[in-house]
Amino acid sequence: MNLLGRDFLKLLDFTSEEILGLINMAAELKARKKAGVPHRFCEGKNVALIFEKTSTRTRCAFEVAAMDLGMGVTYLDPTGSQIGKKESIADTARVLASMYDGIEYRGFGQSIVEELAAYASVPVWNGLTDEFHPTQILADMLTIRERFGYLQGINLVYMGDARFNMGNSLMVGCAKLGVNFTACCPAAYFPDRRLIDTCQAIAAETGAVLRFEEDPAKAVAGADVIYTDVWVSMGEPVSVWEERIKALSPYQVNTALMNMTGKESTVFMHCLPAYHDLNTQVGKEMGERFGRDSMEVTNEVFESEKSIVFAEAENRMHTIKAVMAATLGGWEDAQA
Ligand code: CP
Ligand code: NVA
Repeated sequence: MNLLGRDFLKLLDFTSEEILGLINMAAELKARKKAGVPHRFCEGKNVALIFEKTSTRTRCAFEVAAMDLGMGVTYLDPTGSQIGKKESIADTARVLASMYDGIEYRGFGQSIVEELAAYASVPVWNGLTDEFHPTQILADMLTIRERFGYLQGINLVYMGDARFNMGNSLMVGCAKLGVNFTACCPAAYFPDRRLIDTCQAIAAETGAVLRFEEDPAKAVAGADVIYTDVWVSMGEPVSVWEERIKALSPYQVNTALMNMTGKESTVFMHCLPAYHDLNTQVGKEMGERFGRDSMEVTNEVFESEKSIVFAEAENRMHTIKAVMAATLGGWEDAQA
């Protein structure tokens, strides 16, 4: 596998072998980190992290991974740069590429990160757009493989709004890696028809089965992984909460749903952050307004032994490290 100089914008741009290669590399980098073995493969390089939306995991994962690889890091927050307001993406790309060896971008439309990559002469990594969150999927797949020992044939059920970044990216990732994927939500919340068709074609090659199911009981029968995400994503107006709660409440991940899989081994996953209690500003506000103590997942499931969300969060760092080391080239040099 040689990903030197490549952008990491969406999983559709990568072969199944390349995605698996990144997951394998992340597992090895994780082992080195745990054993305290230095892996400063990108010593002397520098990366810029652009965040037009807020972040905890993705930002910290990029920063720690870059530092572990021996690199310098600059974080550009949602308000602290000229991007968008006084300077175009195309100009920003050329300025940053003249100083940095790689650029991470989190923002709104996928077309923005694609444009950034088109104008930047260095690798650009997608840290989340409205359409895709590819680094999250690498972490999710590593976590599933650690738990079950394999990926091919795992049954993953995604509960909730499947039209946004997480539903889309999980569907692509599962199709690529032979993981069976079910989106469970009202039909209006299924992913875009064209993306489904693209993924069905990929799935026909890898053996993955993709299903779109409105009935939670039918969807989760036999599930190994039940996955959910927030019902209202970053960048969406507060006004959509009411419609989402109405449409998606029957799809909340709760103990009754977890017990419907027919398997003791089923795990719960979530990209985080999650509204599982009232201990957040938005959770409290919306909880009080709509008379609920949780949204997409109950606190009982979130805190249960079936929940592997924090192992999943940790793996963001190891997998993002793999993406940077593979595309910046230090990894290849270290193997030579
Ligand atoms: N899962 C995820 O991307 O988390 P952050 O928004 O905290 O980066
Ligand atoms: N769908 C969520 C994912 C957060 C990691 C969002 O875009 O806000």
